[in-house]
Amino acid sequence: ASITVNAAQSKKISNMLTGVFFEDINYAADGGLYAELIQNRDFEYALSDKEGRDKSWNSTKSWSVAGNQNTFTIDSLLPIHENNKHYAVLKTTEIGKGLSNEGFDGIALKAGEKYDFSLFARNLAAANTKLLIRLTGKNGEKYAETTINSNSANWKKYTTVLVAAKTVSDAKLEIIPQSVGTVALDMISLFPQKTFKGRKNGLRADLAQTIADIKPKFMRFPGGCVAHGDGLGNIYHWKNTIGPLESRKGQRNLWGYHQSMGLGYFEYFQFCEDMGAAPLPVVSAGVPCQNSGTGGAGQQGGIPMSDMDEYVQDILDLIEYANGDVNTKWGKKRAEAGHPKPFNLKYIGIGNEDLITDIFEERFTMIFNAVKEKHPEITVIGTVGPFYEGTDYNEGWAIADKLNIPMVDEHYYESVGWFINNQDFYDKYDRSKSKVYLGEYAAFLPGRPNNIETALAEALYLTSVERNGDVVSMASIAPMLAKEGHTQWNPDIIYFNNAEVKPTVGYQVQKMHGNNAGDVYLPNEIKLSDANESVRKRIGVSVVRDSQSNDLILKLVNMLPVAVNTQLDLKNLGVTASQASRIVLTGAPDSKAALPKKDTIAVSEAFSSELPAYSFSLIRIKTK
Ligand code: AHR
Repeated sequence: ASITVNAAQSKKISNMLTGVFFEDINYAADGGLYAELIQNRDFEYALSDKEGRDKSWNSTKSWSVAGNQNTFTIDSLLPIHENNKHYAVLKTTEIGKGLSNEGFDGIALKAGEKYDFSLFARNLAAANTKLLIRLTGKNGEKYAETTINSNSANWKKYTTVLVAAKTVSDAKLEIIPQSVGTVALDMISLFPQKTFKGRKNGLRADLAQTIADIKPKFMRFPGGCVAHGDGLGNIYHWKNTIGPLESRKGQRNLWGYHQSMGLGYFEYFQFCEDMGAAPLPVVSAGVPCQNSGTGGAGQQGGIPMSDMDEYVQDILDLIEYANGDVNTKWGKKRAEAGHPKPFNLKYIGIGNEDLITDIFEERFTMIFNAVKEKHPEITVIGTVGPFYEGTDYNEGWAIADKLNIPMVDEHYYESVGWFINNQDFYDKYDRSKSKVYLGEYAAFLPGRPNNIETALAEALYLTSVERNGDVVSMASIAPMLAKEGHTQWNPDIIYFNNAEVKPTVGYQVQKMHGNNAGDVYLPNEIKLSDANESVRKRIGVSVVRDSQSNDLILKLVNMLPVAVNTQLDLKNLGVTASQASRIVLTGAPDSKAALPKKDTIAVSEAFSSELPAYSFSLIRIKTK
C-alpha cells in the first residue's frame, strides 16, 4: 500500500478528542473508584435499591453481629442528619464479640499501609464505651487493631489509624465494645491513606491512575442514565452530593444498587483537576430517562413546570459552585470543602439520550436559554438521543438547529461491522451546524467481549473521527469501569476487583490516542494493490500534528488478516529526523491480553513500514 500525506491541505481539529466517561455503573463508584472500604457505612441501603429482588438488601446489608446475647438493630429516632436517617444500635451483653462489616466482597489490605478509620458514636447506656476496632481474617487472624473511647451521650465523631500487618483481599472490620452497654453507631468508615494524589475522601490510587494514564482531555460524569435517573425521584441532584459526608443524600442507583454519594460533585471536580481533564458534568434536562416517571398533574414524564424555575436555578448554582468566587453562596461552599480556587468549568451537558418529546423540548429550552443568558462563557452540550434505527436522532438534531446549540451529544453502541462500514459517518456532516460530542460509543461482538477485534474496530473508526475533528470536538468510549462479579454492562474498558486493575485492549487504544492528540489534521491518500472496497475499509490512517511539540503523529490501523507493507510519503512535512518512536498493538482477533509494544524505527520523508495483521500502529516523528 502507498500512503501519501498532503501537507498543503491541513485543517485545524479539536485537540480534545479523547476523554473519559465516568458513570456509576458496574460498581464503578462505591466499591470501585471511591476508596471507601466499608460497604453500607451509613446503614442507608434500602430494599427499594434492589426493587425487591434481594430481601437481604436493607439497612443491615454487609453488617452482622457476633455473640448470641448481642443485638444489632437499626433505628432512625435521632439521626446525625436528616438525610442520613438510619443508624445501628449495638447492644452488648457478651463482651468480646461485636459488629462486623464484610466490605465490598471483602476488604483489601496492603501490608505496612495506613488506613484512616472513623465513626460517629452516641452512648445510649454507660458513660464510656471502649470500642476495639479490628481488621481480621476469616479464621480470626488479626491484621490490625486499635481502640476508640466513645465518651458522649450525643453524636460525636472519632478517628483513628490502623496499620495493616498483611496483604490480603478478604479482611473484615470488627467493632467490639469492651463493656456491657448500648451504643449507637453511624458513618463507619475505613479509607486507605494512599488515595490518588493523597486526597481525603479520595479515590482508589491504582484505578484513578489507570484512568489518568489515558491523559483524558475531559471527564464526563456522573452518567449516562445515572445522570437523569429512571423516574423523577431518581434524577441525580448535584446538591445532594456535596458537603459533609453525613449530610449527603444517597439514593437508589438505577443499575440495581445503592449510591452513597460519597463520590460526589466536589470529588468529581477534584479528580478532573488532578488529572488535568476538563470537567464535563451532565445534568438531567428536567426529564428522567426516556421521560419515564410522573411529573404531577398533567405533566407525565417531566419535572412539573411549576418546579422548573427551581430546577433551572440548581443548574445555575452548579456553575457558581464550580466557578463562582468565594464570596458567592455556592463558591463559598466549594471553598469550605477545601477548594477556594474555581474549578474552571467550561462545559455542561444538558440531557442524556432522552426521548425527544415536547416535554423534553420545553424543559431543555428553558435550561438552555437560562444558561446561555447567565453564563455565555459556558459551552452547553445538548443531546440528540441515541443513534439507532427508529430513535429520534433527527428530531434531536432539529432542536439543535432551531436553538443553535453549540454542541450535541451523540451515542452509539454498534457492531464491529457497523464501525467498519460507517467510517464516512461524519464526512457528511454540515460544518455550519452544532459541533458533536460523541459521548458514548463502543463496538460490540456476540458475547460482548473486549478484544483485539472490538479494539481495532474502535481504533479504525477513530481515524475517521480525527479526520472529522473539525466537527467532532470530543469523544468518550463507554462505559469505563466494571467490577468483576458486579457487571451490568459489557464491554467496558477497565475491569477490576478489590486488589487488581485489568485494563483491556480497548483501554490501550484510548491510551494511545489520549497520549497522542494533535490539533492539525493532514489529509492522506491510501492506495492499495487490492482495490476491493471491503479490503480498503479495513485499513484506516490518520495523520495529525501536535503544534505544541511540532510532532507528526501517524495512526495506522490494519484489520486485515494479513500484514500490509506500506510506503509512506511524508514530503514537505518537515521530517528531518532519522528515527521515530512507534507503539504497536496487535494480536489474534479474539485476544484480550495483547499489550502495546514500543520500539524505535528508522524514518525519513519517504519510508516503508509493515502493518502487522490485526494491528494498530502509532508512529510519532519529531519535526522542525
Ligand atoms: O453506558 C451505559 C449506558 O448506555 C448509559 O447509562 C446510557 O447513557 C446508555 O444507554
